Amino acid sequence: MKRIGILTSGGDSPGMNAAIRAVVRGSIYNKMEIYGIERGYEGLIAGDIKELSVSSVSDIIQRGGTMLRTARSTHFMEPEGFKRAMDMLENFEIEGLVVIGGDGSMRGGVAISKTGVPVIGLPGTIDNDLAYTDFTIGFDTSVNTVLSAIGNIRDTSSSHERSTVIEVMGRNCGDIALYSGLCGGAETVLIPEVELNINSICRKLIQGKNRGKLHSIIIKAEGVPVSAQELADVITERTGLETKVVVLAYIQRGGTPTGRDRMLASRMGYRAVELLRDGNDSRAVGIKGSAIVDYDLEEALNMEPVYDSAINELAEILSI
Ligand code: F6P
Repeated sequence: MKRIGILTSGGDSPGMNAAIRAVVRGSIYNKMEIYGIERGYEGLIAGDIKELSVSSVSDIIQRGGTMLRTARSTHFMEPEGFKRAMDMLENFEIEGLVVIGGDGSMRGGVAISKTGVPVIGLPGTIDNDLAYTDFTIGFDTSVNTVLSAIGNIRDTSSSHERSTVIEVMGRNCGDIALYSGLCGGAETVLIPEVELNINSICRKLIQGKNRGKLHSIIIKAEGVPVSAQELADVITERTGLETKVVVLAYIQRGGTPTGRDRMLASRMGYRAVELLRDGNDSRAVGIKGSAIVDYDLEEALNMEPVYDSAINELAEILSI
């Protein structure tokens, strides 16, 4: 392999830059040319493609977001857009591609790989919703950002003796809510994987108040099928507690990546280079325990998500 391309696609995540840096420097170290494709599949279709050097990725390891920028491309899903994208890979003589993104971005990679171009997928999403890997790049930073927000909200909630519903991202996956809820000492964590029980939420809040609790934090994942405001209204109506709403939204998707995310991104990025260098077919790179692993790209995306109910039970036990 002489020349590889790299793109980031879908929602950005902290650590994507560290992964780009690892792929760029790893490729150059292994005597391969590396081309950066801007704005994901949109930029591929438009031919926004530039060769990257060692210094192109200086001073980015600590930055959130993605220096290549990103997009959600519907054009790429259409035959004409897809053909143009494939023509661009050929025009630039790109023989292998690294795609950093979530499920949808990697599925785009599967479509490309079926034409014979090997694609290596790196899991770049805050959602932690890819079944084949224990953790995705950006998840840890996002959880830490939510923890910092919980701390701030707790201060003012105690002063005013309020309850607060904090809505976090994660699409259909409850991991950001679960990890930040457990580590932030939330009274209640609501995730899409577990059915909502409004009676038990209200009972717990009242019992806490009766024990002298000055505030309550309820973490709700965005995938739970009730809005944060509707939930707050029901809680106020049924408990009499003043309940505020904070939707953290994009705050939890930006910011400097944690050391853990930078490490994950650097290790996964370099594995992607090794896989292409060694002539592998399309693979998805992940982490299992402390080991960096790789699976057939399409098989990885078809793995069934396994929800870790033990963490939810622990969050419940520790928040009695
Ligand atoms: O997949 C990352 C994510 O931030 C999800 O948690 C969220 O549901 C979605 O992207 C938001 O997408 P957009 O940036 O298009 O609003």
